[in-house]
Amino acid sequence: MKVLSVEGSPHRGNTYDRVQRFGEVLEALGGVDFEHLSLRDIDLQPCRGCFICFDRGEHVCPVKDDKEELSRKLDEADGVVFATPVYSMHISYLMKRFVDRFAYTFHRPRYFGKYAVGMGVTGGIGLNEALEYVQMFATTWGFEYLGDLRYVDPPRNTKMPRFVNETDRAEELASKLHRMMREKPKRKLRSKDYYHFYMMRMVYKRLGPLSPTDFAYWEKQGWFDPKATYFSPDVRGSLLSSLFPRMLSRIAGWGLDRRMRKLSVSGAGEESGTEGG
Ligand SMILES: Cc1cc2nc3c(=O)[nH]c(=O)nc-3n(C[C@H](O)[C@H](O)[C@H](O)COP(=O)(O)O)c2cc1C
Repeated sequence: MKVLSVEGSPHRGNTYDRVQRFGEVLEALGGVDFEHLSLRDIDLQPCRGCFICFDRGEHVCPVKDDKEELSRKLDEADGVVFATPVYSMHISYLMKRFVDRFAYTFHRPRYFGKYAVGMGVTGGIGLNEALEYVQMFATTWGFEYLGDLRYVDPPRNTKMPRFVNETDRAEELASKLHRMMREKPKRKLRSKDYYHFYMMRMVYKRLGPLSPTDFAYWEKQGWFDPKATYFSPDVRGSLLSSLFPRMLSRIAGWGLDRRMRKLSVSGAGEESGTEGG
């Protein structure tokens, strides 16, 4: 079982130590190959904002660096730890740079069947802001998010005290991650998961000619099939929790159709009727 840490501290400090410790706890459970990847150690250039990855595909990205290698490592991992220090009340610039370079994954999610754990390390405050963002991008990209590791560690080489003690969930989350990777149980879906799927499907169906790479990806995955109820078939959920999100997406679809007609924009949803959900 492969676990990758994507760690975004610009130096070998508290976040590095916390990730190392989590890796040790995880490896002690057996059968885990843990790789601690620090974003500062690889050549990951900033996004240039050209939008080519969204428009024509990530393989056409003009920035040539270690991104492809990192993408391969994410594809091979069964679990990923996204670890960031809290800088200026949010994730670090290295972590944001990483997210921006994989931003097309918000439109074309792909990490289903993989697990994510978030880790935030702060001097005192800002953990909620940083970890909410980590959970948002990991979940939207397809990971099943197992929980947060929250640490309050004073900055290195200072006399700042440790203000708060958060409960260390390293042992708990390591064993949860280990069990999930071993047993791969069907993912339990809640209303918000269905909502995410139906709303995205409603949008991408309509944006067809305006967003052809996204449309082709969704079509290839079979997600436009009216029988598809989620991104992945390895799930369990109830009809009840999917019903309301599906209805809402239909209503939102009618609204979007009207808006697109007013703007004289024609999308695939309009051409192929108004299947909303
Ligand atoms: C540029 C910078 C900004 C920071 N911003 C915050 C902050 O907004 N809130 C906070 O409580 N601590 C803040 N800190 C303190 C760090 O979150 C804390 O020292 C953490 O343990 C750093 O982890 P690291 O050693 O991996 O960098 C900041 C530290 C730096 C260097």
